[in-house]
Amino acid sequence: MTRKLLLLPGDGIGPEAMAEVRKLISAMNERFSSGFEVEEGLVGGAAYDAHGQAISDADMAKALAADAVLFGAVGGPKWDGVPYEVRPEAGLLRLRKEMELFANLRPAICYPALAASSSLKQEVVEGLDILIVRELTGGVYFGEPKEIIDLGNGQKRGIDTQVYDTFEIERISGVAFELARTRQNKVCSMEKHNVMKSGVLWKDVVAATHKAKYSDVELTHMLADAGGMQLVRWPKQFDVIVTDNLFGDMLSDVAAMLTGSLGMLPSASLGAPDAKTGSRKALYEPVHGSAPDIAGKGLANPIAMIASFAMCLRYSFSMIAEADRLEAAVAAVLDDGQRTADIMSDGKTQLGTGAMGDAILEKFLALSA
Ligand code: NAD
Ligand code: IPM
Ligand code: MN
Repeated sequence: MTRKLLLLPGDGIGPEAMAEVRKLISAMNERFSSGFEVEEGLVGGAAYDAHGQAISDADMAKALAADAVLFGAVGGPKWDGVPYEVRPEAGLLRLRKEMELFANLRPAICYPALAASSSLKQEVVEGLDILIVRELTGGVYFGEPKEIIDLGNGQKRGIDTQVYDTFEIERISGVAFELARTRQNKVCSMEKHNVMKSGVLWKDVVAATHKAKYSDVELTHMLADAGGMQLVRWPKQFDVIVTDNLFGDMLSDVAAMLTGSLGMLPSASLGAPDAKTGSRKALYEPVHGSAPDIAGKGLANPIAMIASFAMCLRYSFSMIAEADRLEAAVAAVLDDGQRTADIMSDGKTQLGTGAMGDAILEKFLALSA
């Protein structure tokens, strides 16, 4: 069996983190004949430097043809001045849109060993396991008009448009309800129906979807600003949070810090299952960015990238035992007191990116023996 993977390492710490996943892929091919066939492409600033686009049509075609895409990170000050249409982030947005990856799953799990590493009190985060389901192909990221117009009086106007249609809210809430059934069976929907028309529709459609198909799941609604506050006050009240593209972006960075570091948070961006084959387009990406402040120094935490690969094993290849073992390997390495510099370390052993990747690989192989 072959499993076609496209690796898009990108910019900054993206390639450093991806190198650690490549070690895992090679070891799995050698030891367990996992059959990963790996191609590589350019995205973000790296693609812009090579051919003036944030992702080339050829690499876009490879992404559409792959069984799964692993994405590192894009962006950085080097490309601050490039035209908006070809800025590094545009490559990621094109991938999400053209692959129709409407469902972004961002789990925030506080590993037991890191309960004291959060900036919040230990009892607030200990045992935390929440899942943010972020809508990823709609909302203000893609709504038209999206432009800066010259008003002719020395003033300009910047316009972004928040747009949601019923089907988009139905399908993302369906994903959230389905996933809740495999967890604590609770969904909290976050929007701002008090000021946004799209928020009014969001709340109504989530409620109607719940009533029609998922009334066994406990549903609550929360205004997104209050949701941000509650995430920091008592995050364990949540199981699954479903929210729009922009609120999901912000709330998932907040949730990241509950786990000890932004360098811990993986994500899966999924399309709809094919009606005939059941397979779905998918891209796996850490929540963090290219971290220009530490890029090239071998300091990056590769766990978000490695845990994104674990999500790939789980969601794209149904390699559940392998995904479980990889996540257990991460937990075991943290239990042993090994840390990268971004995690508050209270005197524990500090490892660079490569050494952390090696430690996880070693544990993973030991658990697989
Ligand atoms: P960032 O996530 O890159 O960094 C924020 C802070 O967290 C930095 O101090 C960084 O050093 C730290 N950090 C992030 N990931 C880390 C890791 N794995 N290990 C250790 N420390 C880590 O966010 P930013 O600085 O706001 O953005 C930098 C660039 O990244 C921007 O161009 C932005 O658009 C881009 N970005 C890309 C993605 C993506 O590619 N998916 C996501 C977010 C931001
Ligand atoms: C994320 C990032 C992206 C987003 C950027 C880089 C386009 O912040 O994945 O969280 O805003 O969605
Ligand atoms: Mn973000």
